[in-house]
This record gives sequence, C-alpha cells and structure tokens, in this order.
Amino acid sequence: MIIGLGSDIVDVRRIADVIDRHGERFLDRIFTATERSKAEGRANTVETYAKRFAAKEACSKALGTGLRRGVFWRDMGVVNLLGGRPTMKLTGGALTRLQAITPPGCEARIDVSLTDEGPTAQAIVIISAVPARGEIR
Ligand SMILES: CC(C)(COP(=O)(O)OP(=O)(O)OC[C@H]1O[C@@H](n2cnc3c(N)ncnc32)[C@H](O)[C@@H]1OP(=O)(O)O)[C@@H](O)C(=O)NCCC(=O)NCCS
Repeated sequence: MIIGLGSDIVDVRRIADVIDRHGERFLDRIFTATERSKAEGRANTVETYAKRFAAKEACSKALGTGLRRGVFWRDMGVVNLLGGRPTMKLTGGALTRLQAITPPGCEARIDVSLTDEGPTAQAIVIISAVPARGEIR
C-alpha cells in the first residue's frame, strides 16, 4: 500500500552555484557521507549531487512534512543498492516521521527514481507499507 508520494525537479546550475559559493558548508549540511563519496567519485559530481538534492525534497513531500517539523536534509540519504538501484536511508526526524506514518504490523519500503538531462535533475519517491518481515508466513 502506498503511504507517500513525492517528486521534485532541480536546476543543476543552481546546485553548482551554491557549491561554488558555500562549498564544504553546504555539502556537509545537506549530504550524507555515502552521498558525498558517490558524488566525489564520479566525473558528473554536480549532477549526482543535484539528483540527490531532488530526492531529499521528493522524500520530504512523500513524508508529508516538507523540510519542516524536525525533518532535515541529511536525515534523508540516497543509497545505491548492488546494481545501482537507489533507495533512501532515513535517520533522525525523518525516520521518526516515517515510523509515525507506517501502519502497525508493517514496515516502510522506499522506492526512488532519479534522472538528469542537461540542466535538470529529477527525483520521484514512493513510500509503501509492506508486511513486516516477521509477519510474512
Ligand atoms: C515541500 C517543499 C520541499 C516544496 O519544495 P519547493 O521547492 O518549495 O516547491 P516545489 O515546487 O518543488 O513543490 C511545491 C509543491 O509541493 C507540495 N507540498 C507542499 N507542502 C507539502 C507537504 N508538506 N507535503 C507534501 N507535499 C507538499 C505542494 O503540492 C506544492 O505545490 P502547490 O502549493 O502548488 O500545491 C518545501 O516546502 C520545503 O519544505 N522546502 C524547504 C526549502 C528550504 O529549506 N530551502 C532552503 C534551500 S537550501
């Protein structure tokens, strides 16, 4: 059952500009260590950051809060599974909110789709409630 849906579009040039102006302070406030090492290890560093920035905004919409009510940027981190498929790992206030919207007896599954083309990066996030692993017979 889908319990949250969010999408976001980001201008890659805007992210490049903020990185130029604020560098480390911006990167450290917004991105997890996993996201930073993924982006810094790629040739298309800025696009990689922009897709993840969009994912955070999309995830905050899927949570129904936006970046408010104790939900912070670094609480929502994109993690690539083996083979590249992205999901999100939530911590802090974002995890608290995720737990609050997940029905009893269920666990949350977070599906993410990221893309970029030219100066645009986009993310879609779907949060589903699935039977908790212990509940599957
Ligand atoms: C929810 C949020 C992420 C929206 O992002 P945005 O870039 O301002 O605007 P977008 O165009 O991407 O999205 C707007 C849409 O989000 C949806 N939205 C707004 N609040 C929402 C919420 N709490 N939950 C889910 N969706 C929400 C609405 O449909 C809105 O469009 P509408 O008002 O026409 O219906 C934003 O309100 C927020 O929390 N922003 C934090 C921004 C911030 O801190 N910026 C600092 C920059 S470093």
